[in-house]
Amino acid sequence: MWLANTKADLRARLSSEKAPVILVPTMGALHPGHASLIDLARIKAGANGTVLVSIFVNPIQFDRAEDLESYPRTLEPDLAICNEHGADGVFVPKGGEMYFPDRSVTIIENNLANHLCGTTRPGHFDGVCTVVLKLFNLTRCDAAVFGEKDFQQLAIIRRMLRDLDLETEIISHPTIREPDGLAMSSRNRRLTLEHRADTPRILRALESASTGNTPQQILSDARDILEESPFGKIDYLSLVDAETLAPAETLSSPTVLACAVFYGNIRLIDHVDISPRA
Ligand code: PAF
Repeated sequence: MWLANTKADLRARLSSEKAPVILVPTMGALHPGHASLIDLARIKAGANGTVLVSIFVNPIQFDRAEDLESYPRTLEPDLAICNEHGADGVFVPKGGEMYFPDRSVTIIENNLANHLCGTTRPGHFDGVCTVVLKLFNLTRCDAAVFGEKDFQQLAIIRRMLRDLDLETEIISHPTIREPDGLAMSSRNRRLTLEHRADTPRILRALESASTGNTPQQILSDARDILEESPFGKIDYLSLVDAETLAPAETLSSPTVLACAVFYGNIRLIDHVDISPRA
């Protein structure tokens, strides 16, 4: 497995690799959820194709300086996971390699990003779209694999592809969970033991509320369970249309019940899909 730290190095490495090139974009601090994305990329690439993992803590998608500074950085174990799961190469650029100091062009998504995480993380999805487009251009990947846990991110990336006529295939992988239901996230390792023990409440709240008969009932049932937590503070709790991500007023089409909850300064997100009711 090779490692490239510069764009020039990446291009040189890729010039001798075979298609299809399947990219797994990450910010590192890899866990079994990421490993399953790499496994899926390996299957899609086949024995002769190329699996490339990028590890880059993208500064322009962080809205809180403290979150950027404290984001876990664990390069050595990350490289071991990439290797064990069959990656052919890993791209680990430094901030200065990715962004010119006077950069002045950014991708802006101003529809789907106006809901859910976008409401409390201004500019976050513009930063995600910008770095993902740069990674697609730098790697010329045929396909890229993303986790469904970040379902708003996935929807926005698909929208960027549609609106900018990009041809990269987007492959998604279902959320991987801890045995007690907490969605795996690089942020989980920063939870205190007390907070970690309370976090299965998030999925419990979403799942038990999802059987409700009206949007109002679903939201209030989920809120009740989340608000019983001595530690968790709701950042948002929303029931949205699965396609537009706008607040759902009925249950007649597919909807998503989604939330973000702060445990101390660690923000956790999760969601469940709700099928339409007859
Ligand atoms: O999901 C992530 O880890 C990041 O948002 C991504 C897609 C790697 C862009 O920085």
